[in-house]
Amino acid sequence: MNTLEHKRVLVTAGPTYEAIDPVRFIGNRSTGKMGLAIVERLLNKQCHVVLIHGPLQVPVPTHKNLEVISIESAEEMYRATMKSFPTCDIGIFAAAVADYTPVHVADQKIKKSEDTFFLALKKTVDILKEVGKTKKPTQCIIGFALETNDEEANAMKKIEGKNLDAIVLNSLNDAGAGFAHETNKIKIIQRNGEMISFELKNKSAVANDIVEFIEKIAGA
Ligand code: CTP
Repeated sequence: MNTLEHKRVLVTAGPTYEAIDPVRFIGNRSTGKMGLAIVERLLNKQCHVVLIHGPLQVPVPTHKNLEVISIESAEEMYRATMKSFPTCDIGIFAAAVADYTPVHVADQKIKKSEDTFFLALKKTVDILKEVGKTKKPTQCIIGFALETNDEEANAMKKIEGKNLDAIVLNSLNDAGAGFAHETNKIKIIQRNGEMISFELKNKSAVANDIVEFIEKIAGA
């Protein structure tokens, strides 16, 4: 039985770009591959998917059950997410959201002057944390994390702090895993502390494992 059929699932994917001036931004190396692979699996499961994505390096499919919202900054991703999530059953937060954004965005291109350039940054809103605060008991949210040390303890802190049902831990310690690779190695940790470790796999097989796991907990 497919318990995900007709569920509304919100997926965030890709990086966010934080403008410095009209031509420059702060970004990161996320390609959006993992998020898009998850979207594909969800569409195969007959879900209705709302994809909110930053600038991607992979094409976005067209599908009758896929609603696409394209944004640039963390603030735009936050607004789009808060608008869409109330009508969704599940949220999968695979985006690599910038943690900081410039305090001021210059109207004109900044000219080169001193040898050293200081840029003041402020924290972006933690989208997942805000979603966690509004989450209804019938809704399920899954976050992603990248830890280099004390990964399980840090992941449990994130589950608590952001009110998550589970977290997908990406390994940085394995060759071939993470940003800009075709493969990934993950662990999924649940709120009750149960953990499943997976082998290094290509991203579409990893997406399959994540969606199978969500199907299990969302249908429970
Ligand atoms: N996230 C978010 N909004 C932010 C930052 C992160 O929604 N402003 C989401 C990401 O999409 C991901 C999870 O939160 O699902 C990652 O949490 P975060 O605390 O940012 O993890 P790390 O980047 O690993 O944090 P830290 O650098 O503090 O370890």
